[in-house]
Amino acid sequence: MKRIQYHQYGGPEVMRLEDFEPRELGAGDVRVRVRAAAANPMDFGIRNGAMKMVTGRKFPRAMGYDFAGIVEAVGSGVTRLRVGDEVLGGAPIKWSGAFADVVVAEEKGIVTKPAELSFEAAAALPTVGLTAYQALFTKARLQPGEAVFVHGSLGGVGRAAVQLASAHGARVGGSCRAGSADEARELGIDPIVDFDFDPAALARRFDVVFDTVGKLPIKQARTMSKPNGRIISTAPTPVNMARSALPGPFQVVIAQAVTADIEAVARSAGKAELELPIARTVPLSEAVSALTELEQNGSSKRGKLIILPG
Ligand SMILES: NC(=O)c1ccc[n+]([C@@H]2O[C@H](COP(=O)([O-])OP(=O)(O)OC[C@H]3O[C@@H](n4cnc5c(N)ncnc54)[C@H](OP(=O)(O)O)[C@@H]3O)[C@@H](O)[C@H]2O)c1
Repeated sequence: MKRIQYHQYGGPEVMRLEDFEPRELGAGDVRVRVRAAAANPMDFGIRNGAMKMVTGRKFPRAMGYDFAGIVEAVGSGVTRLRVGDEVLGGAPIKWSGAFADVVVAEEKGIVTKPAELSFEAAAALPTVGLTAYQALFTKARLQPGEAVFVHGSLGGVGRAAVQLASAHGARVGGSCRAGSADEARELGIDPIVDFDFDPAALARRFDVVFDTVGKLPIKQARTMSKPNGRIISTAPTPVNMARSALPGPFQVVIAQAVTADIEAVARSAGKAELELPIARTVPLSEAVSALTELEQNGSSKRGKLIILPG
């Protein structure tokens, strides 16, 4: 069996496609034969060592979190999933390992794949869908009829947020790169502004400002917020974490493996309320170079990179 792994923290040059033996199943663990996996910016950050406190110093370390596939074995105490189930989910950060023929993950991070979804479409969902869902509904408690501004509305988290908010009956405005306004319009975003917009033109218009990029200055977000507005960021920087701990409108979202939330995201995708474009599909044997290219280009401009084992 093959997986992408690395023997030291570092840049794209440390990634290797190598043989491995899947970990033993503990209580609550599930082994999944991966049919598709998806890349996220955090894959690169974690491989660079940005989360050493969680990921430790034991090597080799595997890569990849988001996957869809077929349950191959279950550990003791697993009751919701059975061998043969078609599923989607995320591996825990401490193990990772979705860029592989098989992955072991915790049952709580895995849900049944809606029959309407391909494995590729399902693999694209977990991280971005969960982050957007928990930002909008757990953190911001978005209500139907409210107005939300999504900064970076055409990225993975941004697109998921726009669609989940719209399906919930919210009005959605957002930012995108100059030249991408037509694509944003197709998603129903209104108003649409460039990344370097003037917040004064949008003063006090939004109940929720969701910075999916982590680059919107807090002053700008405050200007755009209504008096009881909520401001959510995906960036867990020390300053943001400190601000998030204080009373006030600002919170950082850190996606958590909450089964009911992943189920809600999967349900929305099954109903075609949530669709994430796929930019590129590559076999596992070519994934190291595709991941390197994605990382060096800085962003998945046209959608997700999907990796197909087997
Ligand atoms: N806290 C958490 O739990 C959590 C979970 C998931 C993701 N994240 C973080 O959230 C961020 C977004 O993730 P993603 O998966 O959505 O990434 P992505 O698909 O690469 O999207 C990034 C978006 O940011 C836009 N962008 C690039 N430069 C910008 C700028 N200067 N100003 C405004 N927007 C800019 C990109 O636009 P172009 O495509 O036009 O360049 C793109 O739309 C990443 O930093 C990721 O690490 C955090």
